[in-house]
Amino acid sequence: MDNLRIQGGAQLRGRVRISGAKNAALPILSAALLADGDHRFRNVPELRDVGTMAKLLRTLGQDVRVAGNVVDVQSRPVPDAVPVAPYELVKQMRASVLVLGPLVARYGRAHVSLPGGCAIGARPIDQHLKGLEAMGAQVVLEHGYVKVEVPSGRLRGAEIVFDMPTVTGTENLMAAAALARGRTTLVNAAREPEVEELARVLNKMGASVEGAGTDVIVVEGTDALQPVDHAIMADRIEAGTYMAAAAATRGDVLLEGVTFEHLEAVAAKMRQAGAVVEREGEGVRVCAPGPLRAASLQTAPHPGFPTDMQAQFMVLMCTAQGRSTIVENIFENRFMHVPELNRMGARIDVVGRTATVEGVDALQGAQVMATDLRASASLVIAGLVADGVTEVLRVYHIDRGYERIEQKLSQLGATIERVPGRA
Ligand code: EPZ
Repeated sequence: MDNLRIQGGAQLRGRVRISGAKNAALPILSAALLADGDHRFRNVPELRDVGTMAKLLRTLGQDVRVAGNVVDVQSRPVPDAVPVAPYELVKQMRASVLVLGPLVARYGRAHVSLPGGCAIGARPIDQHLKGLEAMGAQVVLEHGYVKVEVPSGRLRGAEIVFDMPTVTGTENLMAAAALARGRTTLVNAAREPEVEELARVLNKMGASVEGAGTDVIVVEGTDALQPVDHAIMADRIEAGTYMAAAAATRGDVLLEGVTFEHLEAVAAKMRQAGAVVEREGEGVRVCAPGPLRAASLQTAPHPGFPTDMQAQFMVLMCTAQGRSTIVENIFENRFMHVPELNRMGARIDVVGRTATVEGVDALQGAQVMATDLRASASLVIAGLVADGVTEVLRVYHIDRGYERIEQKLSQLGATIERVPGRA
C-alpha cells in the first residue's frame, strides 16, 4: 500500500483544474443499465471507485471501456436470469447499491449484496428498499444479499416520502421510476447537485424527471430509454478540498472548471474564517492573506454545509485563531481524522457529534493513518501546513476520490511524493 510523503510549509499558488464529480459519475454509469446501446461519458474522473463501478457493470454483462476521462458503455441486456451485484465488489464500494434501482426497473428482479457498514457509519439502505416496495417490489434479505422481485414484472409509480434526505436513495428510486408504469413522486428528496446531474442525464435518455434539486421530484415513467452522450459536472468536494488547502497554506489558488453555486455553503464558511473566496472567470479564486479566525459549523444535507467537507474544514480550524465547534449531523462516526490530527499537535476534543477545535500556532509533521476518503484528504492538508515531514499511510483511500492528487498539489508548489508503503 502506497503512502504520501509531504514536506510542509509551501504556500499553494497557481491554478488547478477540478476533475469530474465522483458522486455524479457513479449513479450516471449505473443509469447506463436502463438503456441498451452505446453510451459515452466524458470528463469522468480516473478514480478507484470508477474502476470498481466499471468492473461491476462488466460482471453484469456490459461492455465498458475506460480511456482516460472517457468511459464508453456498450449496454445490452444482462445475460443472467437474475442480475447480481456480488459481495466482493459491493464490499469495496457501497455506491454499488446504485445498480439496484436500474436493474429492478429494467428486469423486474435483482440480487445486490447488502453493503456492510463502513468506517464512517452503519449507512443502511432501508429507504432505498422501502421505496422499491412502495413501487410493487418484494424485498427479502437472505445470506447477506438484498433479493428484490417484482411479481407483476414491472414497477409501478408511487408516492414515496423519505424519512431523511438520502443522496443515493433518491438517485436509486429516481432511476427506477424512469421505467416504472405511471407517476412517481419522491418527497423529502435529496437536493445535492449530483442528484440534479443524474436527472439531466435521465432526461437526455428520454425520461421525464421534474423537480430535481428541490425536495419534491416527480417522474413520469416511460417504456424505454435511449443511450446518452454526457460530460460529467465538476466535483464540488474536490474543489472544496483544494479551497481548504489554499486557505490553510495561506496561498492563492484559482480553481478552474467549478460551478460556484455548488460551493455556496463552503465559500460562506471560509469567508467567515477570513479567507477571500471570489468568482474569477469560469472558476473560483481562494486566498488567505492574513491569519484565519475560528468559524463554527454544522453539517447538513444540501444546500447546507456538506459532510464531505467536514474533515477538510476542521484542519483549517486547527491553525485558526480561537475556538470553533464542528457538529457532524449526517454520519455517526465521521471524526476518525481527529486522533491523527491531535498526534500532529492539533487540540481537538470530541463529545458525541461535536468536535471543539482550539486553534494552535502550528502543527508538527508525523506518520498518520488514513481511514476514509475525506479524513485522508484532511491529513494531506494537515501535512501541507505542518512543520516537517508528514507521511500519510494507506493512501488507497485517497485514490478512491481524488484524481492525481500529488500531481495537482505539486503543480501548486507543494512538496509531495508517493512512496511505496512498507506495510
Ligand atoms: C452519499 O452517500 C455520498 N456518496 C457520500 O459521499 C456523502 O457523504 C453522502 O451522500 C451524504 O452527502 C455517493 O454519492 C456515492 P445518504 P449516501 O444516503 O447516499 C442515512 C464520499 O466521501 N440513511 O445521503 O450513502 C445514512 O445513514 C461519500 O464521497 C438511512 O438511514 O448517503 C446517513 O446518516 C462518503 N437509510 C444519512 O441518511 C437509508 O436508506 C445520509 O446518507 C439511506 C441513508
